[in-house]
Amino acid sequence: MSHHKSKTNLGIGIIGGGFIARFHIKSFVGVRDADILGVFDPDAKRAREACALAKSLGVGEAKPYASITAMAADPAIGALWVCAPNFTRGEVMEEIAAAVVSGKAELGGVACEKPLGRNVGEAKKMLALAEKAHLLDGYLENQVFAPAVTRGKEIVWARGAAIAGPPYLARAAEEHSGPHMPWFWEGTLQGGGVLNDMMCHSVEEARFMLTPPGETRDVLIPVSVTAYTNCLKWQEPKYAAVLKKNSGGKTDYLNRPAEDFARSLLEFKSRDGKIVVVETTTSWCYVGAGLRLSMELLGPEYALQINTLDAGLKIFFSREVKGKAGEDLVEKQNAEIGLMPVVADEAIEYGYTAENRHMVQSFLHGVRPEENFRDGVAVAELLMAAYMSAETGKTVAFPPKGLDDFIPAVARGKWNPKKK
Ligand SMILES: NC(=O)c1ccc[n+]([C@@H]2O[C@H](COP(=O)([O-])OP(=O)(O)OC[C@H]3O[C@@H](n4cnc5c(N)ncnc54)[C@H](O)[C@@H]3O)[C@@H](O)[C@H]2O)c1
Repeated sequence: MSHHKSKTNLGIGIIGGGFIARFHIKSFVGVRDADILGVFDPDAKRAREACALAKSLGVGEAKPYASITAMAADPAIGALWVCAPNFTRGEVMEEIAAAVVSGKAELGGVACEKPLGRNVGEAKKMLALAEKAHLLDGYLENQVFAPAVTRGKEIVWARGAAIAGPPYLARAAEEHSGPHMPWFWEGTLQGGGVLNDMMCHSVEEARFMLTPPGETRDVLIPVSVTAYTNCLKWQEPKYAAVLKKNSGGKTDYLNRPAEDFARSLLEFKSRDGKIVVVETTTSWCYVGAGLRLSMELLGPEYALQINTLDAGLKIFFSREVKGKAGEDLVEKQNAEIGLMPVVADEAIEYGYTAENRHMVQSFLHGVRPEENFRDGVAVAELLMAAYMSAETGKTVAFPPKGLDDFIPAVARGKWNPKKK
């Protein structure tokens, strides 16, 4: 790997200038030793807007590039953040790897948003391409960097686990009222429904909590996966019509729905041979104030709990305040009246700031990030096993046969719980 570029400041190029790119850009206000210098987005307006945001926040003199290769080849760019939609992972990573292998680009690292791939095959291909190009790899799972999660883990293990024994149960949930762009709703493009989109967070966060501090996630060996999926809300004709309208007629939840509710129960064997359990719940049909991330970690003499909607800041608006719909109080906000929770700094509280700081420092020091593509592959394996279980209605012993080639029915456009 090359270390020719500045070792004290990292120039970052972002691929895909949409929703999550804006979150990353905002988080760099709290990240040292890096500048956002470029954005590539086939939608030139999106690229310009993301660059303008970076400049207005003072986090880098970002400019739009005409291609991934052109951005990667600029000597000022030392690492790339992949923030494009799930269905573009393969082509994006192939272009990055080709630019490096051909000698056009010299890069230290690549960081990729969740999920690493739409299935195990795609996730493994991402890892293989990063290895081929000798790139340090960061898997952008923000929730394992959220301050409540990292600080909670530290305290539980240092005080509770040290005296009473390790935790045995982690519960994680991510729930909101549905994604903001039509492609997320389309099983073939996104890779599934809410199980693929959000259980990736819950599984990894729970696995992180149950892993002893300082150990890598593979000390917990998956034993079995039991899961359930359904479409509880969005297949109702009234709501299917909303999705159809929002997508210009493309999304068809009467015939090609994706799951809007999914739960899983995962058993792992810990190093001392004991079974520890992860329980996750995810949904796109939770209409509360906004995005709700919750987590519990339970052990013999202690319990930890997190709920992002139990925010320290709450604001009340009377019925006389009839404001515009927005997401300025909390991500995936559903109302602007009554008593509303406000997440004061979402980039910090959801973990983006600490995540990006870790990735930047890892790349600058030439070390592999603690959260990397291997974890992204492991998450894809657990999620695909969950789809197998949900499709068969049975508990799946891990690893199940055919996991590497498995593509869920929902990702093939062939899932419909109403036509079972
Ligand atoms: N960590 C999180 O909590 C979180 C939250 C939201 C999204 N994400 C992930 O981030 C990724 C992007 O999601 P989003 O919400 O920003 O979507 P989005 O649709 O808002 O933005 C995606 C952007 O990528 C651009 N794009 C399309 N094809 C591209 C290509 N081939 N190369 C480069 N850019 C391309 C689009 O024009 C668009 O501007 C997804 O993989 C998603 O799963 C993660």
